[in-house]
Order: sequence, then C-alpha cells, then structure tokens
Amino acid sequence: CGIVGYIGSQEAVPFLLDGLERLEYRGYDSAGLSVIDGEGLKVRKIKGRLEGLKNLMLEEPISAHVGIGHTRWATHGAPTVPNAHPHLNQNGTISVIHNGIIENYMKIKEWLIQEKGYEFKSETDTEVIAHLIDFYYDGDILKAVNRAVEIMEGTYALGVICQFEPDKIVAVRKDSPLIVGLGEDANFIASDIPALLKYTRNIYLIENGETVLLTKDKVTIWDEKGAEVKRDVYQVTWDIDSAEKEGFEHFTLKEIFEQPKAIRNTLFPRLDKNNDIILDGIKLTKEDIEVFDRVYIVACGTAYHAGLVGRFAIERFAGIPVSVEVASEFRYRDPFIDDKTLFIAVSQSGETLDTLAALREAKRKGARILSIVNVVGSSVTRESHDVLYTWAGPEIGVASTKAYTTQLIAFYLIALYMARLTGKMPENQYHQILDELKGIDKKVEAVLKKADVCKAMAMLQKDNTSVFFMGRGVDVETSFEGSLKYKEISYINSVAIAAGELKHGTIALIEEGTLVMALATQERLFDKMCSNMLEVKARGARVVAIAQEGRTEIEKYASEVFYIPRTMDELAPILSIIPLQLLAYYVSAARGNDVDKPRNLAKSVTVE
Ligand code: G6P
Repeated sequence: CGIVGYIGSQEAVPFLLDGLERLEYRGYDSAGLSVIDGEGLKVRKIKGRLEGLKNLMLEEPISAHVGIGHTRWATHGAPTVPNAHPHLNQNGTISVIHNGIIENYMKIKEWLIQEKGYEFKSETDTEVIAHLIDFYYDGDILKAVNRAVEIMEGTYALGVICQFEPDKIVAVRKDSPLIVGLGEDANFIASDIPALLKYTRNIYLIENGETVLLTKDKVTIWDEKGAEVKRDVYQVTWDIDSAEKEGFEHFTLKEIFEQPKAIRNTLFPRLDKNNDIILDGIKLTKEDIEVFDRVYIVACGTAYHAGLVGRFAIERFAGIPVSVEVASEFRYRDPFIDDKTLFIAVSQSGETLDTLAALREAKRKGARILSIVNVVGSSVTRESHDVLYTWAGPEIGVASTKAYTTQLIAFYLIALYMARLTGKMPENQYHQILDELKGIDKKVEAVLKKADVCKAMAMLQKDNTSVFFMGRGVDVETSFEGSLKYKEISYINSVAIAAGELKHGTIALIEEGTLVMALATQERLFDKMCSNMLEVKARGARVVAIAQEGRTEIEKYASEVFYIPRTMDELAPILSIIPLQLLAYYVSAARGNDVDKPRNLAKSVTVE
C-alpha cells in the first residue's frame, strides 16, 4: 500500500491525487482520501484504480488544506469500498491511513466490540486503529495515537487526522516505509520519495518507532521512548524525469531498454583502471570471508532468480558453497545461522517484508548481513552491515527487468571480489571475465536492436495458453525468470524446468503444438540441450530456442531461434534474459494487458 498526507496553505486534494498516482505501483485495488474542510472531516473512497477517485473528486470536489490519502493492496478483506482506506472512528471525526498489518487486530477488535461497544464497518485490520485512537482521545490527537500504538503489534506506517485539530497530521512508522517532505508553507508525508518530488526535495527519512507531528510550518519527530529527535534534512538530487515514460508506450518497455545504461552505472563506478573491484559500502575483508562457513542468498520473485545466478557465480568464481532461499520460507525452516554465516538479501525496493523478516531473523542470530538493493535509504539497506546498490534508477513497471540485470552485475562483482580476496581464481582468468563483463552493455544493446524479431515472435505466441521453459546449467535460472515474466505480464500459464528433468514427468504434458522455449546458451551443455529439444520436438512441440551466435545447427531442432552475441557461458544470463523480457512484454501488449500494472500484483509487497 502507499500513503500520502498534506498540510499547508494550498489545496490538499490535487497534491493527494498526484502523490497517490506515483504510489500506485505499491498497490491499486482501491484508493481513498480524507480531508478536513470548513464543515468537518470528509472521506472519498473507491474500489479499483486511482482514476476512479480522480473522477469522484471532479464530481464532488472538496476544498481543504489538510488531508491524507491511500492506495491499497488488499490483505485483510477484499478490495471493496468499505475496506478501502481511510478508516474512521464511529462518529467520523478521526481518520486513519495505514500501510502494514496489525497482527493482534482480532484481539483488539473483540475487546473494542464486546467491552466498549464499538461497531465495525470493514473487515480490515486498520479499522481497529481508528477506534482505538478514538477510545484514547481526550482532546489531544498526538497523545491518543501514542497510546494506541502501545497496544498495536505488527507493522505500520500511519497517517492520522482529527476534525477537532485540523492544524495537525500525526504519523508513525514501524517497519513500513515513511518519509516526511518539507515544503514552503506546507509539509507532507509519503511512503517514498517520488511521491513528493514535484513538491519538495527536502526530506526527513523517518526511522522505525518514530512518531511525527506535522503542522503547516513545523515538523517534530520523537523516538520510540518519546525523546525528541533532531533529524538532518536529506536532499534529493535525482530527477523526476527518470520516472516518466520518455516516449515509450509502457514503463516496462522503457526499463527493458534502459538496461545497458543501468548495467554501466552499476558496473563501471566499481572498477578502477587496473580492473580492481571497489565495492563502496562493503567492508568485507579476506579474514571475514575466510570465517564464513555458510552463505545464504535470500529474496523474493525476480530478486530470488537473480540470487540463483548469484549462487552460480559465487560457487564458480570464489569456490564458496551457497544456498539460495525464498524469503517467505526461510525463517520457518529454522536455518543454521550463527556468526559464521553470510546472509545476502536481494531486493529492488528494499521494502519487501518477507525479505526484511528473513534478514532480521538472520541478524538476530548473528549473521553478517550484506544486501543488494536498488532504492537508497530503504529499510533493507538500513538494517544491513554492508550494502551494494544497483544503480538501475527508479523501476516503475511491476515486472522487474533492469533491476534484475543490475542484480546479476552486482553478484558477478561480489563473486569476483571474493575470488580475488580468497585467491581462488587465477589472475588471468579474473581479467578475462572482467574484460568480458566490461563489454556486456554493448552486447545487451545489440540484443535490444533486434527487439523487432522478438515482436514478430510474440505475434505467433500471443494466443498460446501455456508455455514451457527449459535449459541446462545456469540457463535453468534464466528459464525461471523468463517464465515468471510470462506469468506476471502475459498471464500465460508457464512452467520452467531443468531440461534433464523433463523426461522424469513433465514431458507427459507435451503434445502437438505445445510451445517450448529452449535456452541453449551454455556451450559445454549444448549437445545435451539439443537432445532435449529433440525429445519435445518428436512429441509435437513447437520449439523456440535462444542460442549464441554461430550455433546455427540448432535450427534443426527449433522452429525459431533468437541468437544472442557470443559471450562466456558464465555471463550468458545477462544476455539471454533480454529476449525473454521482450517476448513477455510484446505478448502482454498484444493481448491488451495492463503491462505496467498487471492484475493482482504490487511492485513492492510490504506484507508477509
Ligand atoms: C513483488 C513484485 C516482484 C518482485 C518481488 C520482490 O512480488 O511483484 O516483481 O520481484 O516483489 O521485490 P523486491 O523489491 O524485494 O525485489
């Protein structure tokens, strides 16, 4: 979910709608806002996209100078108008927006209903907050919020306004993102920086456990213990333009095309002229690395797939064994973690709660935490010992593309860095790989120049109802990521499998016309891969292959082939994912799907 708030001398509603539009990537099941005007507290909510709220505000305009807004990704309760935020107390004088989950809400709800006679209108956990604040309210909204927060367990970024104190917004942060913007004659709250950039570049990054009181011309912050905090102003230096589409039909396509630049930005600042790797933000020494007896890479979705390639790179280059885990499962396996564990978290947003929860568990047990993150100052980075930023720039499309390829670059850098420190790799091999890596952006550009080939292929695929991906070696990891892209944006039922595993079950699903995407970029496994293609072709499959240039013999086994420029097997994942991203994109667009905001998904999932 995303939250915004405005208090100042200008109109609140245009700001709230604008801010929410920038936050829609966090969820878009429903949206709502509430403001206080001359008559009192008012609320407008809709089910569905923000567009609906904008139309409603045109039909029923309100002029006000204080307000809060919310865009929702449903957890507790279906996406309906009653469940949309803001939520109010019974007499409609206190209004609350919330991002996160109140874990003990059932207990509080029962207590409020049975003992205090409160009535509830929604199925959400958030509504209890409004009633709880109401219960403690005796004329001071800040005090009431502080009392309520003491009872609440879980995660939250809250924005609260009260009809009797229209000169205030109260905000609280615990484990959900919250920032404050400082304007002229106005102050703001939001879930992230892009929501505020049009209005201010002066930001307070709010820390966990802090409470904030905003008036038109003052912002006061208190820590968990109630002591006033003096926060430095964070000046945003990057530009909102990078968050616009720049002529591309969708953000997703723009971001696919931004990959050469994103790769350059992530790679080159980390290399000096002698090919030495300088990882700003990573303080790992040779001694540290030698102490580790276990490395976990933990992440969700696309970042998890980057982690799979990361395992391959670290094991291959640095000779250190690695396990890769899905974050939502990690904690429940009681993994072996102690101070000899290196825990690598991977996250585009740095706010994915599953990843954060796993990180916190590992940290509690003594692990060293290294994170690979795209969003500066996000929660994951703040809780890590070492951080390597991917400089992909803001990624707006829900399906991750440029964040993924920069995560791969980050892993190659870390793996080579470790290999160098531990002396596991001969010098000439190190330079050979780095030299190839330094030219990989140009090869990505060459792939993108053939986008039309992918578009034409996509036209042949768009009516398919299912697709199989297969590969061998590190092509298996690329198959997983390619398959996820198809699911996310094309809505095509997609299965990815290690090609050698096919004959142990999945081949039963292959019949006349079944679409199989075969990744055959690994030179040393090429012949084996051709056999697998033959196995499915013999059963009627339509095989589309991805191979390195020059491997034309593959045309015997595939009806269509997309050739990527020649590269080392180890680095092929950077190139081979690009045609798959493009294919998924063009299929999605041809089907008329909402490519940038696919159904049921959110860019950043801040619930477990
Ligand atoms: C969500 C998104 C995915 C993303 C995953 C992890 O589910 O829809 O595209 O890969 O979160 O996000 P993160 O920000 O942690 O990389």
